[in-house]
Amino acid sequence: MPYSNLTLSQPEPGLYLLTIDRPKALNALNAATLAELSAAIAEVRADEGARVLLVTGAGGKAFVAGADIAEMQGYTPEQARAFSAQGMAVMHAIEALPVPVIALVNGYALGGGCELALSCDWILASETAVFGQPEVKLGIPPGFGGTQRLTRLVGRAMALELLTTARQVKADEAVAIGLANHVYPAADLRARGLEMARTIAANGPVPVRVAKQCAQRGLDLDLANACVLETQSFALSFATEDQKEGMSAFLAKRPPRFSGR
Ligand code: CAA
Repeated sequence: MPYSNLTLSQPEPGLYLLTIDRPKALNALNAATLAELSAAIAEVRADEGARVLLVTGAGGKAFVAGADIAEMQGYTPEQARAFSAQGMAVMHAIEALPVPVIALVNGYALGGGCELALSCDWILASETAVFGQPEVKLGIPPGFGGTQRLTRLVGRAMALELLTTARQVKADEAVAIGLANHVYPAADLRARGLEMARTIAANGPVPVRVAKQCAQRGLDLDLANACVLETQSFALSFATEDQKEGMSAFLAKRPPRFSGR
């Protein structure tokens, strides 16, 4: 499907690359871009062969510079509520994708851009990445989940510091506080992201999806119940072809050829 504000490509079978591409506004998210994001995510979700989604920004300067301030400026509270709900739905849809989603943050990831990265499963940053929640400088709080996902990822104290000071964080600090997993030179970011995606895609598709689901859902449970969830998932995995293939291949000393069933 053709999009105006993003591209969705498959650089290799099973690997999707979603690139937000609105150069005139440093890839800022307006309602039209959010609608396209929603459709693109649905496309990935509908593909049983999908293994990993990479999300990045076009242009080399910004991942996403936030929600679109020009579009938001004249909003009534009701319009603001609808816009926030639309953004929240997109972030939830990304989080709920069965396959791992990796943000390749290649520049400014501010406000809604930081929130977009936070809705991905983890973040790889370029040396030029800059993270921040500058909304308080605009007279508003975050609206696409930043107060919640940032707090869950880096802890309450650091999240509140960033949310209330609007201090921007560069790539090295982002790794140090657990916001990003790794930092790479800007020219290498996409290749390193693809390399990681390839590694994931070579593993059993069913257990990769199950691991994501258990890790995500388990965080909303107490440890004992979360471990029951894992035991049930472990048990069910013995009904899959991926389990049979993975263990047979190991014992036969050959590489596995997973079917994802
Ligand atoms: N919305 C709309 N337009 C934006 C934008 C945004 N979030 N960020 C940048 N732009 C536009 C600029 O207005 C500018 O447009 P013109 O060329 O037409 O003037 C163009 O992109 C280039 O931006 P700058 O000239 O500002 O570039 P710079 O290199 O000087 O600065 C920047 C880059 C530091 C990222 C700066 O653009 C900036 O601070 N942007 C806003 C960041 C921000 O506050 N984001 C949070 C938005 S609120 C939000 O996201 C709420 C929420 O949670 C839902």
